[in-house]
Amino acid sequence: MTVIKSPRLWGALLTASALTLAMPLQAEPADETVVTLAADTQGTPEERAATMLAQMSQDEKLSLLMGYFGTDFPPVNFEAPEEAQYGSAGYVPGIARLGIPPQWQADAGIGVATQGGAEVKRARTALPSGLATAATWDRDLAFAGGAMIGSEARADGFNVLLGGSVNLVREPRNGRNFEYAGEDPLLAGVMVGQQIAGVQSNDIISTSKHFAVNDQETDRGRGNSVLDEASLRMSDLLAFQIAHEIGEPGSVMCAYNRVNGPYSCEHPFLLTQVLREEWGWPGYVMSDWGAVHSTANAANAGLDQESGYGLQMAANFAAEKLQSALDSGEISQQRIDLMVTRILRSMFAHGLIDNPVSADNPIDFTANRAVSQADAEAGIVLLKNEGGILPLAASAQRIVLIGGHADKGVISGGGSSQVYPDGENAVPGIEPTSWPGPVVYYPSSPLEELRALLPDAQITFHDGEHHEVAAAAANAADIAIVFGTQWASESIDVPMQVKDDTLIESVALNQPNTIVVLQTGGPVLMPWADKVPAIVEAWFPGRMGGAAIAGVLTGAVNPSGHLPVTIPRSLDQLPHPEDPQPGDVNYTEGATVGYKWFDAQGHDPLFAFGHGMSYTEFDYGNLSVTRAGDGLVATFTVTNSGDVAGADAAQVYVSGDGWEAPKRLGGFAKVALDPGETQLVSVAVDPRLLAMWSVEEDGWVREAGSYQASIGESSREIVETVSIDLPASYLSPQWRPQ
Ligand code: BGC
Repeated sequence: MTVIKSPRLWGALLTASALTLAMPLQAEPADETVVTLAADTQGTPEERAATMLAQMSQDEKLSLLMGYFGTDFPPVNFEAPEEAQYGSAGYVPGIARLGIPPQWQADAGIGVATQGGAEVKRARTALPSGLATAATWDRDLAFAGGAMIGSEARADGFNVLLGGSVNLVREPRNGRNFEYAGEDPLLAGVMVGQQIAGVQSNDIISTSKHFAVNDQETDRGRGNSVLDEASLRMSDLLAFQIAHEIGEPGSVMCAYNRVNGPYSCEHPFLLTQVLREEWGWPGYVMSDWGAVHSTANAANAGLDQESGYGLQMAANFAAEKLQSALDSGEISQQRIDLMVTRILRSMFAHGLIDNPVSADNPIDFTANRAVSQADAEAGIVLLKNEGGILPLAASAQRIVLIGGHADKGVISGGGSSQVYPDGENAVPGIEPTSWPGPVVYYPSSPLEELRALLPDAQITFHDGEHHEVAAAAANAADIAIVFGTQWASESIDVPMQVKDDTLIESVALNQPNTIVVLQTGGPVLMPWADKVPAIVEAWFPGRMGGAAIAGVLTGAVNPSGHLPVTIPRSLDQLPHPEDPQPGDVNYTEGATVGYKWFDAQGHDPLFAFGHGMSYTEFDYGNLSVTRAGDGLVATFTVTNSGDVAGADAAQVYVSGDGWEAPKRLGGFAKVALDPGETQLVSVAVDPRLLAMWSVEEDGWVREAGSYQASIGESSREIVETVSIDLPASYLSPQWRPQ
């Protein structure tokens, strides 16, 4: 093997096609052998990684284990490396002589984000929030959204997308709930798993994050999530496990917080026992940005790559530190080789080497906006619709829109996942204008979209600043639509309320036909809920949010979203009524999260997990349940008995004795039906959802006995239940669905 001493410029390698890479390069004849090494597609990713490792010098190996923030960070005097994509989250240098490209890393879950603020913005297509996508209960839409944002990442020259956010909504005030996929481990795991698979269909890596139990932002850097092992396995870890089985992410991002003592990024139980020995996951663990607190300890626990040097004061995986830990025997060479191999393996397995990215490719914004709009439309939840006030009649009428900047656009969530729109921030200047802001409104105006869909109506707007003026305008109209917004962002937790509850109260007092449209990061309290006939939850609806909202309000879109979270009546219904606190966070509710808590406590939620209305009716029946391996299959019919086409989230719940809660979501299907149409639906129930985790027996244990399966339109609207006797069963920690 010829070894090339002079590194080549990356541009040349990366703009070349895979075909060109395999060809001898005239100008630098010695490159031929070396480039062939990366371009040789023979062998499994493991074999190719091993071959590559054998060619690497120690310096080269160590260089793959630490990444840089992709943007200047003045607080610590950090200047991003020139080769980084400015305004991005991360950069890990490549090794040109071996054909190993750099890792260009970008956030994340709803699109290609920009770090460093609006001045350096990269305008890209934003999906609705992760919670909105979860509310679609539609696997195909989750995949399509992932595929779209992955394609924009690729077009931009990013080959690692830091998405796949699957922390459970355990704390409804968590400022990052909008990035996640709800309170149920099955729903969250399936939807995020699909998104990861969609991202990776572009031959780039997706991560899953934040591993694990990063379920509040208060004190996230030092806080300790305390949760007994069985509960951990049956809740937060199960969501990750399912997402991994479906999406097979190339990387996992360990979290900022501690879990039962140790920091997540130096946690042998999480990073080695669970991820590798039990789940058999072959990828590499990267840290969250600044989440590493040691060198040898973290490496030996299972961390493979420290991310984002520059965003914190110390680099624990800097080459000198790793080398001195090697010299002192705290880390073995074998461990270093393993870390490097895992990174290389994911790069081979996910196409980073065979199909290298290049920057500045064109993006089809029209097509990508359509993907975002379809996702937003299917994720909007019609919570309440008394007297069929919605959809709005097509006949001429006076409608007033109030508040929420509904004349200009729709709100989005802040922090590292912030995507800047093509087009300007529709409402610039709202505080905070810098981290954890800025507050960004996407230029998709509900007012304009509504006017386009209802050309005969007289539609006006009031900003809602003066309640009496807004109330008078509502009084003079036939219908008032009030927009309630809650801004949320990374690094903060937020009160469970919209900006102006009293505005909604004043309008409702003056106009019986008041419709509330919510744009929120997570569940909010609705003290005015019984004073208004209709409530629509649009979450953070993304780049085409105004169009999606107008579509649902007018019936151009039949709503089909269902809640991925429980909406409580009051704070005292929560396991932790008090605001999130620093230090030890004792998750005493264990795996009894969300609706499971409400069921177990006998609390009556305002709107139950799984709830969502439609402009048509669905009838369920003919439920039968059979055993399938260690699990179940539930079969039933769904009929659209109304007048318009629509889709429903059919939900199968399972129950057994001695569980943490009266029932669990066992499976689901999104079913689209024309009027009068009936479909036979089969939903498989994963055997882990019929078992309890046993620490003593180290696995999933099911007692022999009678179990129930139900179909429902929500966790509180159960339509039919059947019982089935099941034998005892044991599934090892290594068990995974075939
Ligand atoms: C966030 C991560 C993100 C990273 C890089 C951190 O602050 O917690 O989710 O991927 O920054 O931007």
